[in-house]
Amino acid sequence: MPNDTLSITDNRTGKTYEIPVVDDTIRAMDLRQIKVNAGDFGLMPYDPGYTNTAACKSRITFIDGDKGILEYRGYPIDQLAEKSTFLEVAYLLYYGELPTKEQLQTWTNAITTHTLLHENTKGFMGGFHHDAHPMGMFISTIAALSTFYPEAKDIFNPETRLRQINRLMAKVPTVAAFAFRHQLGMPYAYPDNDLSYSGNFLNMLFKKTEVKFQPNPVLERALDVLFILHADHEQSCSTSSMRLVGSAQTDPYSCLAAAAAALYGPLHGGANEAVLLMLQEIGSKDRIPEFIQKIKNGQGRLMGFGHRVYKNYDPRAKIIKETADQVFEVTGRNPLLDIAIELERIALQDEYFVKRRLYPNVDFYSGIIYQAMGFPTEMFPVLFAIPRTIGWLTQWEEMLLDEEQKIGRPRQVYLGPTQRDYVAMHLRSQ
Ligand code: ACO
Repeated sequence: MPNDTLSITDNRTGKTYEIPVVDDTIRAMDLRQIKVNAGDFGLMPYDPGYTNTAACKSRITFIDGDKGILEYRGYPIDQLAEKSTFLEVAYLLYYGELPTKEQLQTWTNAITTHTLLHENTKGFMGGFHHDAHPMGMFISTIAALSTFYPEAKDIFNPETRLRQINRLMAKVPTVAAFAFRHQLGMPYAYPDNDLSYSGNFLNMLFKKTEVKFQPNPVLERALDVLFILHADHEQSCSTSSMRLVGSAQTDPYSCLAAAAAALYGPLHGGANEAVLLMLQEIGSKDRIPEFIQKIKNGQGRLMGFGHRVYKNYDPRAKIIKETADQVFEVTGRNPLLDIAIELERIALQDEYFVKRRLYPNVDFYSGIIYQAMGFPTEMFPVLFAIPRTIGWLTQWEEMLLDEEQKIGRPRQVYLGPTQRDYVAMHLRSQ
């Protein structure tokens, strides 16, 4: 008997089943043969929140949450953050290999030529209320872009698909910057294609009346590093949303809007906004113990702490902490940093957090840097969505080309009433 199987004995019937084990997984469908009566539906795994369910096979991003390892296509995140640029990493994620000089040039050109938005988009964005949340504007505008590019529906045509990927990569910073300036009541600043991806983004955000905007090289590099760190994170809530919506063969703009909507939530991309609000609420270092006690009493969560996958220090949080020092040399120190450092120190010694293996995640320090760079908190999830776009698109394409994938459609355990007859309204009791 081969030993790469799992023997399951159903104590209800005494029957034993041999289930193949491949890549440390069993197929959920192999459980369906396990029944008490021939007419039964068969056994299903029950896994709310998909905490132990692999929904796909992927070759893009590897995480070992216990050891705190994150790799894109096998390259450790710290090496990429130190040596690479965001567009190079985006190429790596999408194509699977680091680009040659020529390949990077072609990729950069393909993205740069698409940075402008159709002028009608401006009118569309102008319709939002002056204080509209930029993430709400971002999500809706990305979804609206699908109406400008109806050919995007042709998702199995590789050329059309690549064109949409280039377009989305190019346009997400423009949409994000327009959303930012809309809030401020500033005229939209058009892209400057002479600048780097991050440099141009800073230009579209902060350009005033100068003829040519010169990004600060330290802030430009810091933003690029933050973009590298956020580019992909395997099957996160937003990426799973991208795959799930994409499994219905929806166009990539609509899928990306759905992924961004998932990212908007405070338990996901909204966490760094929540971290800043939390640090502001704490206000000073001496109030930290009282705050921690509230968390331990079940009154809220320590935002920026804990992760579904990492049960160790998030490797991205370490790099962000280093980046913070460089940014603060330019912008001046954000006073919230001292509260954050002290909060981390106290939490990492507290039994509640130690026992549950709760460490700082990527969002714990990123918000402090973004604030120092001049971003309002509402922009934080938008800043996350820009680099994650290439991760979402790469994962979406992998899903589309995976012959094992089908439309995503989970099962349920039905616990509601059994069949009963309709009761006329005058006969219903209160
Ligand atoms: N503060 C206090 N307690 C926490 C925290 C936290 N941040 N996170 C988890 N816990 C506790 C839970 O209360 C639970 O305790 P219990 O066993 O006594 O009930 C235990 O730790 C396990 O928590 P779960 O909710 O089961 O962990 P899960 O994997 O479902 O949640 C999550 C992960 C959502 C990230 C969670 O840690 C959290 O809410 N963190 C704060 C929000 C945050 O920072 N999100 C950003 C994540 S990174 C990203 O999306 C880019």
